[in-house]
Amino acid sequence: MKRLAGKTALITGAARGIGLEFARAYAAEGARVAIGDINIEAARKAASGIGAAAVAVRLDVTDQTSIDAAVAEAGAALDGIDILINNAALFSAAPIAEITRADYDRLFAVNVAGTLFTMQAVAKAMIARGKGGKIINMASQAGRRGESLVAVYCATKAAVISLTQSAGLNLIAHGINVNAIAPGVVDGEHWDGVDAFFAKYEGKAPGQKKREVGEAVPYGRMGRATDLTGMAIFLATAEADYIVAQTYNVDGGNWMS
Ligand SMILES: NC(=O)c1ccc[n+]([C@@H]2O[C@H](COP(=O)([O-])OP(=O)(O)OC[C@H]3O[C@@H](n4cnc5c(N)ncnc54)[C@H](O)[C@@H]3O)[C@@H](O)[C@H]2O)c1
Repeated sequence: MKRLAGKTALITGAARGIGLEFARAYAAEGARVAIGDINIEAARKAASGIGAAAVAVRLDVTDQTSIDAAVAEAGAALDGIDILINNAALFSAAPIAEITRADYDRLFAVNVAGTLFTMQAVAKAMIARGKGGKIINMASQAGRRGESLVAVYCATKAAVISLTQSAGLNLIAHGINVNAIAPGVVDGEHWDGVDAFFAKYEGKAPGQKKREVGEAVPYGRMGRATDLTGMAIFLATAEADYIVAQTYNVDGGNWMS
């Protein structure tokens, strides 16, 4: 029996990377998925790669009208949303003296407000439907502690952990479990960008930061998106019904708390 048979999921930022891997894994477990992304062309390509179990939905998590439209569109296409993965996020890095207000606003708009108001819109639909649901927010090891060059991103991910706690406590009364996953360092296009930031600020050769962070993981390598799918599936099943407001590290041993 497939673990998500008959379930439906909206996954934000799922046109590539970890979100896309979640969409593939959910479909393989029998779920139908809506791939919500600001990059609608990539989202359509991702959905067609998965097949009949997937639809693409245009979604900009910084825009309330877009959130409301995407939640309505996904709900109509899937006949209701059982699971939300709040995965869309942006990264940036800079020393404290070089952080700009524009960059701060951009990251908080996507990573924090985007997570909160997408969660709110889906939770309202779940409450109206009366069947409960599962919400999984993507936090990060960056939310567990600050980093010298990554102040803004770290602060957004700490906020995601906090929002997960508050929303988890508030929404469990409606049978909606809110939990989060905190990955460590996961290889992919996102980390190509991170590597470029460190090349700029730490004078490293391209690829050097990636090698260093991979070697520093207790497990012995960087994570892969597929390392995260087990937790994303588990948190969406009835086996996780008694898990409320938690953030799980899936990071090869990088962080312990
Ligand atoms: N890759 C890592 O090492 C790592 C580590 C810890 C946490 N995470 C978190 O995991 C999640 C996925 O990371 P990833 O590496 O796959 O990222 P990614 O950059 O590869 O993908 C992010 C996706 O979000 C979409 N997006 C950006 N802005 C959007 C918006 N306003 N509205 C809707 N979609 C938008 C992008 O188009 C893209 O498809 C993120 O929340 C990230 O912070 C990643």
